[in-house]
Amino acid sequence: MEKRFYSLPPLPYEYKALAPYISEEQLRIHHSKHHQAYVDNANAILRKLDDAATSGSEVDIKSLCKELSFNLGGHLLHSRFWETLAPPGEVGKEPSGHLADAISRDFGGLEKFKRQFSQAAMSVEGSGWAVLTYCFELDRLMIMQIEKHNVNVIAGFPLVMDLDVWEHAYYIDYRNARAKFVEAFWSVVNWDGVSDWFSEVRS
Ligand SMILES: [Fe+2]
Repeated sequence: MEKRFYSLPPLPYEYKALAPYISEEQLRIHHSKHHQAYVDNANAILRKLDDAATSGSEVDIKSLCKELSFNLGGHLLHSRFWETLAPPGEVGKEPSGHLADAISRDFGGLEKFKRQFSQAAMSVEGSGWAVLTYCFELDRLMIMQIEKHNVNVIAGFPLVMDLDVWEHAYYIDYRNARAKFVEAFWSVVNWDGVSDWFSEVRS
């Protein structure tokens, strides 16, 4: 049976499509350099494990597990991030369907959700993510704040939408002003796509 490896997903829009909120240069580097690196690193770890499986040699499994968690986390979070975004004006301005209902029930409305999600993004210590996630057991939306790509992750909870607040996500456009980037993010959220994805996740 043939081994499979991760690959960089193509963006569902052009590099220039999110300007002026995210510039072409910023998006190109973020996707083609930073995301690509996590894909390559995750694959390199899998190849090391494959080599060990073939040769029977010992690996430092503790450090490989740690590196895999970091790099694969980076790949999965970025893949959802690109789908969380859409060119401004091309999609609805707010969530719809089940997502709209759940946001209103669990956060008290869209504005309150946006405030809390922005706050989660702003207050990540160092590099990390704000994630909207969902608990199947309670049928409840929650916010998850991830440090790096893998710290504070709630196991088994899905990524409904996410926001990358690593400095590499915004340094070209906003220098160190994370707050400006977080504010700009709301202008390019793919509410149609996220709403559809949430319905799929729930079912
Ligand atoms: Fe990133």
